[in-house]
Amino acid sequence: MSLIKVISSLSLILIGVIIFKIVLPPLNFPRNIPTIPFYVIFLPTLTKMDQIQLYELYLKEPLEKYGAVKVFFGARWNILVGRPEYLSEIFKKEDIFAKSGNQKKIPYSAIAAYTGDNIISAHGDVWKKYRGIMTTGLQQFDDTPFEKNAKLFVKLIRIKMSDIDKTTLTKTGIPMIPLIQRLALDNISQTLLGFNFGTLTNDCVPLHEHLIRIKRQIFQPLFLTFPFLDLLQLPQRKKAFSDIEQFRNILVDKVQTQLIENYEFEQTKYVSSDLIRSYTNNIINHKQLTDNVVIMLVAGHENPQLLLTSLLYFLAKYNNTWQKKIWNEVKDIIDTKDLASLPHLNSFILETTRMYPPLNIIINRCTSRKCRLGNDIVIPKNTYVGYHNYSATHNKNYWGDYADDFEPRRWGDDIESITKSWRHHKNNSSLSSFHGGKRACLGEKLALSEMRVTIWEVLKQFEITLASEWEDRVTPAGPLCPAGLQLNFIERK
Ligand code: HEM
Repeated sequence: MSLIKVISSLSLILIGVIIFKIVLPPLNFPRNIPTIPFYVIFLPTLTKMDQIQLYELYLKEPLEKYGAVKVFFGARWNILVGRPEYLSEIFKKEDIFAKSGNQKKIPYSAIAAYTGDNIISAHGDVWKKYRGIMTTGLQQFDDTPFEKNAKLFVKLIRIKMSDIDKTTLTKTGIPMIPLIQRLALDNISQTLLGFNFGTLTNDCVPLHEHLIRIKRQIFQPLFLTFPFLDLLQLPQRKKAFSDIEQFRNILVDKVQTQLIENYEFEQTKYVSSDLIRSYTNNIINHKQLTDNVVIMLVAGHENPQLLLTSLLYFLAKYNNTWQKKIWNEVKDIIDTKDLASLPHLNSFILETTRMYPPLNIIINRCTSRKCRLGNDIVIPKNTYVGYHNYSATHNKNYWGDYADDFEPRRWGDDIESITKSWRHHKNNSSLSSFHGGKRACLGEKLALSEMRVTIWEVLKQFEITLASEWEDRVTPAGPLCPAGLQLNFIERK
């Protein structure tokens, strides 16, 4: 056989193997749960379908009937779980469904270079060490920047309103995502990291521009879908890696300089000062310090940004009902501390986290041995397992026939019943938006406080409506919130 024939036969075999690996799940995957066709994850890129439409069409029925499905995601086959009982099992058996973030799953990728080995993705002793260092700073923080920043946010909205021609303003409204991002960045940098990103007071902040640039590179759909392409070291990806490295170094330098210059890192309870102290005492190395400072910034601004987008959307959508009720409740409040006890405001926030869990699909667990999920789903060792938050938070067995309706009253009429119901649904994993159990989100308290204060400040100034030209749809994939939200703001008399 000639060399050309050998090469072409080998190439054909290789192509066949690759297609086989993409089109069909591994043979040792459980046969008693459905397989979602591999092409489904490409649909939002190829069509105008958003992730809720995709869920309704392809995932809802199999997830509700079987509780788990096989899906192709991140260039591999995974098991995706939607039934709350199964979520509880995964959350409880942390040693079997072991956290395995991007640093382990796709260590060569740009996203892994960005966030590294941090408190959210680490497992075992390393995770315990991080948790020991960071819990206090994440739970006991000074929330005074939220009120000041919410006022600056409102001021920015007014500036944007004056920049747009009045006749077009009611149709197009104001694009909210960039403004909300600026608020979320300033809030988190001031409450957790000990410096001010400064994006609310300055249109052009180099670190912010740098962040926008690297996010654009990291979240390119092709490289997210096929992360192994990063192994090819293409010139544009080399640039992405170097931009990411630079960003990480500048961020940590900024945090260190700011805290040291202010002599604050010895006295304060910033999570960043606890991290720096642990680094100085050789408890963690410089990479671990950087990975965790970066994740504080990333989780600390992106997740609240998503939730606030959804909250403003629901306020605008229900402007004649819930917005009015909440406005009546908050208008006489003087001290931000009193916001936590308001039933309408708080049930509205909880219902929004249920309707649109900001982190919808999370696949970052890997089985440490062959195991069983429920009674009869046998999962092989080294299988990636993830959870579908939207499926759990819309399960009719837990939320009733009106699970898909936005109905804050389901939480209760007074703050005690609302809090009790929140705890109950978190405990049985039917409200998994902030995870649960040992690995529960450490930023929940901070995020909820940030949401209350911002809504309070915005409603004091404005009535909000949806811009008439804005198309009501959610993001196509990944984080879940209304896509490119545009709102109208009407000054209160
Ligand atoms: C609306 C806002 C937020 C939502 C919906 C949210 C959601 C979540 C979820 C679902 C997880 C579990 C992730 C997994 O399964 O791997 C998580 C973990 C975590 N979140 Fe949040 N989060 C929010 C805000 C924040 C903020 C502001 C911070 C502050 C930096 C934060 C810090 C953390 C940490 C440290 C963990 C890891 C806990 C551990 O594994 O020990 N989160 N969050």
